[in-house]
Amino acid sequence: MAEDLLVSGGCKEERYHTLLPQLRSLLAGETDTVANLANAAAALKETFGFFWVGFYRVKKDELVLGPFQGPVACTRIARGRGVCGTAWAENRTLVVPDVDAFPGHIACSSLSRSEIVVPLRNAAGEVWGVLDVDSDRLADFDDTDAACLEKICNLLTECL
Ligand code: SME
Repeated sequence: MAEDLLVSGGCKEERYHTLLPQLRSLLAGETDTVANLANAAAALKETFGFFWVGFYRVKKDELVLGPFQGPVACTRIARGRGVCGTAWAENRTLVVPDVDAFPGHIACSSLSRSEIVVPLRNAAGEVWGVLDVDSDRLADFDDTDAACLEKICNLLTECL
């Protein structure tokens, strides 16, 4: 039985700091990718109340929707399209403070205002998926989110 996550109060940095080791132990006992992505999405949603948090996985030349928390979302994204497809093509984290200012942004919800997308990389450095987090507030993500979400993505890859 998974333990309850105990992350509340404190600033964003403190919450990530508390969440990381809990997530590490939650994921460590499980090798199923969908199970771990699902729990990571739930843990992030519960801890930060993000508008949408979830994963897309690379399938051939597209990203396909994986486990997520939040409103229904588009299921397939071509390489180089939208924020997710661009993060995949460029193999780097993208922080988008205003989604309306990002050319080609794919609006799964009109309520989404800012977004961060972090690639999931295998040991060879190839992208096998992305973590996408959306906020209903402008400029909700910064370097702290980027650094901490990258650590979470590394954790997810280690558990494969
Ligand atoms: N906005 C993303 C699409 C995915 S949804 O936000 C869940 C993009 O532009 O790639």
